[in-house]
Amino acid sequence: MYSTALLLCLLAPLRTDAAPSHSTTSISQAQSGKIVPVTKSQFNFNPFQLTNICLDCVRLNTTAAFSCEVMFNWYDPNSIKENPVSSCVCNYTWAWDGVTGIGENGTDIDNGAYDLCWQGDMTYFEMRLVSFHTAENFTLELGHRYHDDENFTRPWDYPTTFAQVDLQLPLIGKAENKIKHYARGPVNATIYGISG
Ligand SMILES: *[C@@H]1O[C@H](CO)[C@@H](O)[C@H](O)[C@H]1NC(C)=O
Ligand SMILES: *[C@@H]1O[C@H](CO)[C@@H](O)[C@H](O)[C@H]1NC(C)=O
Ligand SMILES: *[C@@H]1O[C@H](CO)[C@@H](O)[C@H](O)[C@H]1NC(C)=O
Ligand SMILES: *[C@@H]1O[C@H](CO)[C@@H](O)[C@H](O)[C@H]1NC(C)=O
Ligand SMILES: *[C@@H]1O[C@H](CO)[C@@H](O)[C@H](O)[C@H]1NC(C)=O
Ligand SMILES: *[C@@H]1O[C@H](CO)[C@@H](O)[C@H](O)[C@H]1NC(C)=O
Repeated sequence: MYSTALLLCLLAPLRTDAAPSHSTTSISQAQSGKIVPVTKSQFNFNPFQLTNICLDCVRLNTTAAFSCEVMFNWYDPNSIKENPVSSCVCNYTWAWDGVTGIGENGTDIDNGAYDLCWQGDMTYFEMRLVSFHTAENFTLELGHRYHDDENFTRPWDYPTTFAQVDLQLPLIGKAENKIKHYARGPVNATIYGISG
């Protein structure tokens, strides 16, 4: 079961369907990289979709720290029109003592720095771990810069959209030095903000 789930996790295809929606506006308020909150009346973003979400924590022995890795497929239905790449695989690794929550009380891991999941000339997918309370309860932040000159006018036609997602993944394997969680999804990550 362990290896079947891992295979699923690595090989299952991305979803590529998208629900069309409607909205027009600009993001000129979001200049200088500041994230401005978005509302339904302003924009009509579909959520990011996360699938095949794996969390693997392994350690060499009971006194060593776990090395945890989260990996998932990420699809942005909002970017399908003008962007040759509308999905990617993210893979993010950090150390965990197996007990203490990370990123509580307003601090976060790596001081809020993002890791790139995929990068093109002008566009990218990035993520960071906001908090990790337990393996059953952790939060990611996702940012996607893409091209859209239908809803956005120059120079705002490369918006970056942001979502936070709280993940509670089912446990699928546990041993003294190994913990594995997996959810096939899709899990929706609602877009809350945008920057120019
Ligand atoms: C962009 O415009 C298209 C066509 O009007 C619309 O379907 C889509 O929902 C808009 N996207 C956003 C993020 O509002
Ligand atoms: C996820 O988002 C899609 C597209 O907006 C929607 O059709 C679907 O119902 C949502 N699923 C859940 C579980 O909220
Ligand atoms: C556990 O692993 C750590 C890191 O490799 C190593 O330094 C330590 O000696 C190991 N402890 C035992 C009891 O094997
Ligand atoms: C995750 O990324 C690292 C570095 O980019 C790579 O070495 C590792 O093989 C990746 N893991 C998986 C499971 O793809
Ligand atoms: C967060 O704050 C609470 C209350 O002050 C404290 O009990 C807890 O240990 C703190 N967590 C971390 C990770 O610092
Ligand atoms: C996740 O952990 C946070 C911090 O301890 C807590 O506020 C939240 O209710 C937890 N969520 C779930 C679904 O357990």
